[in-house]
Amino acid sequence: MFVSDCLGINSEGHLTIGNYDTISLVEKYGTPMYVMDEHTIRKNCKAYKEAFEKYYNNNGMALYASKALSCLEICRIINSESLGLDVVSEGELYTALCVGFPAKNIHFHGNNKTYRELKIAVENNIGRIVIDNICELDLLNDICSKMNKTCDVAIRVKPGVNAHTHEYIRTGQIDSKFGFALETGEAFNAVEKVISLDNIHLKELHCHIGSQIFDIKPYIVTIDIMMEFIRAIKCKTGFLVKELNLGGGFGIKYINDDIPISIDEFMKKILLYVDKKSKQYNIEAPYLYVEPGRSIVGEAGITLYRVGCVKNIPNIRRYVSVDGGMCDNPRYSLYKSKYSVVVANNACSKAEQIVTIAGKCCESGDLIQEDVLIQEVKQGDIIAVLSTGAYNYSMSSNYNKIPRAPIIMINDMKSKVIVKREEIKDLIKNEI
Ligand SMILES: Cc1ncc(COP(=O)(O)O)c(C=O)c1O
Repeated sequence: MFVSDCLGINSEGHLTIGNYDTISLVEKYGTPMYVMDEHTIRKNCKAYKEAFEKYYNNNGMALYASKALSCLEICRIINSESLGLDVVSEGELYTALCVGFPAKNIHFHGNNKTYRELKIAVENNIGRIVIDNICELDLLNDICSKMNKTCDVAIRVKPGVNAHTHEYIRTGQIDSKFGFALETGEAFNAVEKVISLDNIHLKELHCHIGSQIFDIKPYIVTIDIMMEFIRAIKCKTGFLVKELNLGGGFGIKYINDDIPISIDEFMKKILLYVDKKSKQYNIEAPYLYVEPGRSIVGEAGITLYRVGCVKNIPNIRRYVSVDGGMCDNPRYSLYKSKYSVVVANNACSKAEQIVTIAGKCCESGDLIQEDVLIQEVKQGDIIAVLSTGAYNYSMSSNYNKIPRAPIIMINDMKSKVIVKREEIKDLIKNEI
């Protein structure tokens, strides 16, 4: 019935997550609040790991894209499940290193890494720095020379694949700020340049074609392109790139119309296809990375809000305002992202009303969802927005000086705070 397996309804008609009553969570921790189910996160990590074991001789690793949700406890869980990590900033890197995440399993991304970020990455012997552009390569070379250190890198390639997803979250096509284009020869020139450098070692080719993708075809096309590129590099230079990273982007269920392919099925198709192409090209099968973010934490999370005012505009719209909004979930205002919404204290009654869930920020566009089907809803009810584990807390802000909501983790019928609610005084802590 629900978009995620970790959700249910108990005998009181309350929504549960990890079998925990969401209304008792609200009584304990208040609203708004993000809630995550640890079992679901771990199950998803295991699905990636087991797929590498089953279909690819364990010759690869999933790197959790921590931009989806970065905090200490998530880094601990990811490490304990033996996944690696993708970070895109000093902040994400710092968070990982604070819990002792092995540096060798961290890949550092970003289209405009600063001198300071590159230096920190080199100092900490980060597993791979993913080179996005020539300026960055020159900067890194300079840093390595001055520090008399070497570093292992990946080159980010734009494979030119147009995955069918929202325009704002497509990254593989030529008109993108990320990476080197193949068509123009830019990517090959970057490879040649890296190979010629003493302090920088080319280990991997990287690509990422977008997000919330349900179709396997764009990945198959991408594998064709990237394997052909590996072969072309080998033919022209004699250098064999031994690692390939296919990025993330595997779609999850936000609404009932979303039909994601299981992690196992997705991975099986990808891994067997890479193996087939390697045999066809008579090259060693590359060590393979994928970088899932959303598909690890997305369906594991929900957000709970309390309903304030309900405003009915006859024949136009019924606004249901909640005590959060674009400050804790900006995805609808950014991308018109779809979500399922449930009245958590009355989850078993039939959803028969069409309403618009509005936030409390001073923006007309501060909406969580427009025209969504929901149960009868009134002031004081608790609303759950589902599948908010990815790109919600990590994209949250203090707009209108609203403190950030806490994250509560559920495991084994127990709840614990993994990120505390921001206090009003935190909002001025950097102000002078
Ligand atoms: C380079 C890279 N890798 C991985 C991801 C994770 O994507 P997703 O959360 O859709 O799996 C992203 C998302 O933007 C990305 O840019």
